Amino acid sequence: MKTNLFNQKLIGWVFLCILSISSISLYAQKFDSLALTPPMGWNSWNKFACNVNEKIIREATDAMVASGMKDAGYQYINIDDCWQGWRDKLGFIHPDSVKFPSGMKALADYVHSKGLKIGLYSDAGDKTCGGYPASRGHEYQDAITYAKWGIDYLKYDWCNTNDLNAEGAYTTMSNALYSAGRPVILSLCEWGNNKPWLWAKNVGYLWRTTGDIYPCFDCIKDHGTWKQWGVMYILDMQKGLRKYAGPGHWNDPDMLEVGNGMTNNEDRAHFSMWCMLAAPLIAGNDLRNMSKETHDILTNKDVIAVDQDSLGIQGFKYSSNDSVEVWFKPLEKGDWAICFLNRSIKPQKVSFNWENENVADDVSGRITQFNKVTYNLKDLWTKKDIGTTGKALSAEVPGHDVLMLRLTKK
Ligand code: GLA
Repeated sequence: MKTNLFNQKLIGWVFLCILSISSISLYAQKFDSLALTPPMGWNSWNKFACNVNEKIIREATDAMVASGMKDAGYQYINIDDCWQGWRDKLGFIHPDSVKFPSGMKALADYVHSKGLKIGLYSDAGDKTCGGYPASRGHEYQDAITYAKWGIDYLKYDWCNTNDLNAEGAYTTMSNALYSAGRPVILSLCEWGNNKPWLWAKNVGYLWRTTGDIYPCFDCIKDHGTWKQWGVMYILDMQKGLRKYAGPGHWNDPDMLEVGNGMTNNEDRAHFSMWCMLAAPLIAGNDLRNMSKETHDILTNKDVIAVDQDSLGIQGFKYSSNDSVEVWFKPLEKGDWAICFLNRSIKPQKVSFNWENENVADDVSGRITQFNKVTYNLKDLWTKKDIGTTGKALSAEVPGHDVLMLRLTKK
């Protein structure tokens, strides 16, 4: 009798232990009130890849302010892969002292002194994608180091992770950052392999949904063992994901390629669609040498307002005809954004008879009610008021370009 009772108690304790260990390992903590709208900033990778150094980061910081990008809402200066130097005897990470002679604390102080924030990159595996020391087994040490330096944003990659469990690995880093006590935006970069939209809402603030972007409109860059995707491919891969995004937890279709070689029309279409998707707006061009066109695209405040809308509802494809797609995004105060995307290289005529269209969004529950409500139309690229929804719209959209409007109740 006594042994039986003892056995039962033992089983109970073992069961309780297993339960608490498993709940600890999957419980992630996040700082509230971060990334309530999609993060905006700049990242070194798309333009400079591994050729990053302190001089470039300081100059990018200066250019962010001088160009008006800071005023347009861009905040983060993010250093991607290849900044790492070595781990010391105790296992603490140090930057490459040739590329970053003043060290990360001094650089972070500089970025902060300009009213901006600074981000770093690491990886959940043994080595980063570029082959530099990564965070596996050093997560808490790294989080403490980043906090000491004053880091505000961490992009956390997924190369060389072998048998690691993605949810577990990202939760470990999330908890490490939380314990270090400095609010940091954790950006998951595991390319959508493990469907982070299903589990990362409380782990990080944004998660990559795809492999790497490539600066072309609709090509694939094939590297043999992996591929990079043109803008239209990435756009198509967002299908079905919008219901997972919202304030503090965003789908990330990768950083911007505006100013990195596409035509101005293509750059405009790319930027507009990222804003329709409520995507993080992380510029990836050389801010020090921007053309006027690139600058004007990146700093269009009306288009950025669509991205940064306080409701944080990702837009959706309403229709697709003859290579013209019509996208809608519900906005605050009953407004909507609409974007006609011409995927063909030829100009296309578009006509849209509002009264015949019944636009209902099953995620937000919003309905345009064009048959009852009249909206004013503003073209967000020409900045012109172009009438109301009382009259059918007819326009021509140049090849690989958009017509993007904001609808405001009359
Ligand atoms: C991966 C990421 C990229 C970039 C590189 C750096 O490919 O997806 O965005 O960070 O690694 O090596």
